[in-house]
Amino acid sequence: MTKSENSYYNGSSMKALNIVPLSYSLEALEPVISRKIMELHHDKHYVAYVNGANAALEKPEKNREVMRDFSFNYNGAKIHEIFFANMREVRENNLPSGKILEAINLNFGSFENFQKEFSLAATSVEGSGWAVLWKDTENNLTVGQLEKHNLLGLNGMTPILVLDVWEHAYYLDYLNNRAEYVKQWWQVVNWDDVEQRS
Ligand SMILES: [Fe+2]
Repeated sequence: MTKSENSYYNGSSMKALNIVPLSYSLEALEPVISRKIMELHHDKHYVAYVNGANAALEKPEKNREVMRDFSFNYNGAKIHEIFFANMREVRENNLPSGKILEAINLNFGSFENFQKEFSLAATSVEGSGWAVLWKDTENNLTVGQLEKHNLLGLNGMTPILVLDVWEHAYYLDYLNNRAEYVKQWWQVVNWDDVEQRS
């Protein structure tokens, strides 16, 4: 993904979005994330953001309300594209290696420290939101949170690993036990994809 595709909306990105298909089957993430959740999450929630962004673009008058709709839906679509690409089938001992591990060690001291920090970010989001691993323009890594999903593109900050903790992402499988979802999710992180973004 290029920087411009990844940044907060601007003139150049105000064009119709296409639906990005999953690179794996709907059941590929089981038992961590069920087919039912992926079906709803990708084919309904994500597609609704793409359609919402495109519908806002088609409105002739770009007033405050239309731009708010565009921002919400555009960022919703973009962050879900990163989230879906950040995952793959379950792997035992699914740990990062190579360049991304070096970067994590450099910025957080160890993978365990990073995992703890990111998990804490995910479990402590109030209401709907995301845990995010950002890289800045000098490749420093930071863990943060997003409320809902706006502010995807803080200036110069690129999300490279994101975890959706909106209830639609886990409730059917984990009910209100978000901490268990976060714990299991580490098994499906696609570290190759994260490394490519870093
Ligand atoms: Fe979501």
